[in-house]
Amino acid sequence: MRGRRQHAGSLAATGLLVAAALASPARAAQSPEPASGAAPTGSPTREEFQALRDEVTQLRALVPTQAHTMVDVEHQFANLWFAARERNWPLARFYFNETRGRIAWTVRIRPVRKLESGADLPLAPFVQNIEDVGFTPLKAAIEARDSRAVKVAYQRTLDACYACHKAVEKPQLKPEVPQHPGALLIRMQPEPGVQ
Ligand code: HEC
Repeated sequence: MRGRRQHAGSLAATGLLVAAALASPARAAQSPEPASGAAPTGSPTREEFQALRDEVTQLRALVPTQAHTMVDVEHQFANLWFAARERNWPLARFYFNETRGRIAWTVRIRPVRKLESGADLPLAPFVQNIEDVGFTPLKAAIEARDSRAVKVAYQRTLDACYACHKAVEKPQLKPEVPQHPGALLIRMQPEPGVQ
């Protein structure tokens, strides 16, 4: 959970920065409403412009790293395997949606990665790939409550995870079918009456 701890630390630091900015007289003097629909009157002063830049810097520090959202993906996608193995379909569906959402978020955080060579690598095609070869059949298998099809689609999704890791020059990150669920306290067995 390295990513989580790092994130908590940077959140605390950013909280202090934001608090300091809010308390400063310069901040109080400028309009706090960004892009609320009202047209700005006149050009921003140097101070207002600098204050905005500072705020953007502070907000950027609040955005989690891709490693952080990926640790979420690891947790959720591991749980999906065990939920499906127990034929707990509502839970499998939940973890499926969480995984898919976190992958989308990962790419929103940083849509283009810099490679060692200095070249830019857009991540969107890898998301499209995991959608096509992994998530679409996996979702269909979960909805059909088909354990065999889930296994096949799960492995194909892992292959698509790895395709992106290799492309971003992290071939040491090879995901495999998990031995243990990531969740410590969520029950993997179905709850009676919960469909
Ligand atoms: C679109 C590209 C992409 C896809 C698809 C992708 N990943 Fe990642 N993943 C990354 C990147 C980039 C990193 C490295 C982040 C960093 O360290 O900057 C990463 C890192 C990781 C890590 C290491 C996190 C850590 O720091 O401990 C895990 C675990 C992981 N991914 C799991 C998965 C799984 C499981 C899937 C598929 C369900 C997946 N990833 C799909 C891009 C992707």
